[in-house]
Amino acid sequence: MAALTHHRHLQTHFLSRLPVAKPISRLQTTRVRMSLQESGPSVAVVGVTGAVGQEFLSVLSDRDFPYRSIKMLASKRSAGRRIAFEGTEFVVEELTPESFDGVDIALFSAGGSISKQFGPIAVEKGAIVVDNSSAFRMVDGVPLVIPEVNPEAMEGIKIGTGKGALIANPNCSTIICLVAATPLHRRAKVTRMVVSTYQAASGAGAAAMEELVQQTREVLEGKPPTCSIFKQQYAFNLFSHNAPVLENGYNEEEMKLVKETRKIWNDMEVKVTATCIRVPVMRAHAESVNLQFEKPLDEDTARDILKNAPGVVVIDNRSSNRFPTPLEVSNKDDVAVGRIRRDVSQDGNYGLDIFVCGDQIRKGAALNAVQIAEMLV
Ligand SMILES: NC(=O)c1ccc[n+]([C@@H]2O[C@H](COP(=O)([O-])OP(=O)(O)OC[C@H]3O[C@@H](n4cnc5c(N)ncnc54)[C@H](OP(=O)(O)O)[C@@H]3O)[C@@H](O)[C@H]2O)c1
Repeated sequence: MAALTHHRHLQTHFLSRLPVAKPISRLQTTRVRMSLQESGPSVAVVGVTGAVGQEFLSVLSDRDFPYRSIKMLASKRSAGRRIAFEGTEFVVEELTPESFDGVDIALFSAGGSISKQFGPIAVEKGAIVVDNSSAFRMVDGVPLVIPEVNPEAMEGIKIGTGKGALIANPNCSTIICLVAATPLHRRAKVTRMVVSTYQAASGAGAAAMEELVQQTREVLEGKPPTCSIFKQQYAFNLFSHNAPVLENGYNEEEMKLVKETRKIWNDMEVKVTATCIRVPVMRAHAESVNLQFEKPLDEDTARDILKNAPGVVVIDNRSSNRFPTPLEVSNKDDVAVGRIRRDVSQDGNYGLDIFVCGDQIRKGAALNAVQIAEMLV
């Protein structure tokens, strides 16, 4: 119990330093008038006190998402907490089945078990659920959508029809990888993809970010690091992703990249393998992606394709050794791509290596979900 209380304290403390609900100001009041529209949908944010939940609020505000009303939902622990959003103070409510009465769009980020329990209830009540957990991603008939990649997968799903539906947001590493790889795939067809990830603390939630800060301080002070979220020292170290390891030796995070890519590309033949590593970076994932193509694609053409791709920015300056970094993409919408080069282990122009960085709380979670929500309106 003491550990839980300590954990809650850390989480609250750390979230207060995240770029979240903005302070009430005159500017915010003006933006409220633009966003709060009589005809807009009624929105619920499930898991609003978490790392992704708080980012939802930032993204909704930044994009002037039109809404009629917005509900802030979290666990019983947070009920009654106040959150400032677009010039109004909201009270966090405990998530219950009744939470979804009259809700058009429910943005879920409270973990898989909450999604499994409450997602179908929300749908039954007519809401369209955009779910950030892995609960429904591989379920047949549930669209798994990256708006820049496969918007067609959610064709026909709109609010105002009275029919609820589930839409899944892919895993953050998959989103970041495919925003960059898909434009190349469209041109030359990827037959095999090898991904190695360097994943930030933020991917494991607000408490993991705080643990990295705390451990860094402790190690520098010569104290033993507190390991509560992760089982081993994280500061000044790196380790294999903390997702459970499966019988085939891959961990769940790696298999998400394999399976979700096939579903999103609607290509059961594409060969994908991945190694996922947690690195002591606060926010934003990096990925090394090796691509093998059916048709030739030279590096200059690939660079031009990527420069014109939606949601992508190219940072690829060999002479100054300037390439994407997690810091540079933190709090940014675009996925950055660099180190674009011919794979010398393959004959001709049938292979490319690229290095990709993306803010996985933003494009890997909240932004992608809000882009999906925009297509529902
Ligand atoms: N972090 C990422 O980059 C990322 C990316 C993609 C997907 N996701 C997924 O998004 C989900 C949330 O991740 P996160 O990183 O935001 O985690 P987090 O920072 O730990 O936040 C978890 C949120 O879930 C809420 N919650 C927990 N138990 C609940 C309950 N019984 N009823 C209602 N709400 C409950 C928490 O509310 P309290 O504060 O009240 O406990 C909090 O708002 C996970 O499924 C994760 O896999 C995360």
